[in-house]
Amino acid sequence: MMEAPMASATTAAPATLTDSFGRSITDLRISVTERCNYRCLYCRTGQGETPAAAAPSGEELSWAELERLARAFVGLGIRKVRLTGGEPLLRPGLVDFVATVAALGVTDIALTTNGHLLAPLAAPLRRAGLTRVTVSLDSLQPDNFARITRVPGGLDRVLEALDAAAAAGLWPLKVNVVLLRGYNDAEIEDFARFARRRDCVVRFIEFMPLEQGSLWSRDRVVPMDEIVQRISRVHALDPLPRKPGETACRYRFHDGADGEMGIVAPVTSPFCNQCTRIRVTADGKLRTCLFSLREWDLKPALRDSDGAALADRIRRAVAQKEERHHIGEPGFVKPARGMVQIGG
Ligand code: 5AD
Ligand code: SF4
Repeated sequence: MMEAPMASATTAAPATLTDSFGRSITDLRISVTERCNYRCLYCRTGQGETPAAAAPSGEELSWAELERLARAFVGLGIRKVRLTGGEPLLRPGLVDFVATVAALGVTDIALTTNGHLLAPLAAPLRRAGLTRVTVSLDSLQPDNFARITRVPGGLDRVLEALDAAAAAGLWPLKVNVVLLRGYNDAEIEDFARFARRRDCVVRFIEFMPLEQGSLWSRDRVVPMDEIVQRISRVHALDPLPRKPGETACRYRFHDGADGEMGIVAPVTSPFCNQCTRIRVTADGKLRTCLFSLREWDLKPALRDSDGAALADRIRRAVAQKEERHHIGEPGFVKPARGMVQIGG
């Protein structure tokens, strides 16, 4: 008997990328630069480049190459794009790139930034089509902020950036806090008050072994249970339902106050079975997991004119997406690249 013909491209259902564990991959993170103007303790070593000396590595994909990549991914079913770094706002041309991604029909475009350069760019980014922004903010105390980021005077700038983002309509505003035992865990309750006062989403992230140095140890991780207990002692919390592909356990305040709390617990409560993400590094390597030990170089396939080789390579990589990470297990191997080179 003859097999039914394959659906043609014109009649096919919308494209989807599915991995071998049945997870739909709908969420792409693109790192646009490995450079950063901060040297956060949990990310970088603190040695090497100063902000003034930082220069593009030469390996960065051009904006035209990034556009070709984004087009290929959208054609394969990516619906949400997050731009990351390094610090993405260090790269001139980001506003135009947001407009390019929006023109591909992506309606959910997010940015992860340390906020240092965001204030004057918030409104232009919003106009270009950015829908959401996540600002990393690890301390509300100027000295502690400087100790963690290793840059003086940043806190005021980041707070100004949050105001500018809210005024520009980048909503809901999200703040990421990586908790490090002995550095900022005393500020958990302050951050809960901050979420209520500023009506923003504060998300605590458990420290993962992705730093370039070797600060990580299980003792440095502030576990989710402790965070929830500590906030609940000051403000009762009600859990919110988990959205598909959502990494955070979300809570609202029981007394109806503004703001939301979230906890991303990759260490004590992994969410790998819900993962919808893949990542491309600034130099064009596809990573199917934050902890991937293997990368797929997309650069050679980018030269192919009709995009078929690129789509094929992406599909093959996704088919081999890892089932889960192995943080804290015997035999865990830290990836050669740190977070600053992968993009969060
Ligand atoms: N563990 C947890 N989170 C990290 N981030 C950077 N490095 C780490 C780490 N080792 C955070 C950044 C940013 C987000 C993308 O990831 O602070 O908010
Ligand atoms: Fe800090 Fe993010 Fe820069 Fe890493 S990439 S040093 S976490 S601001």
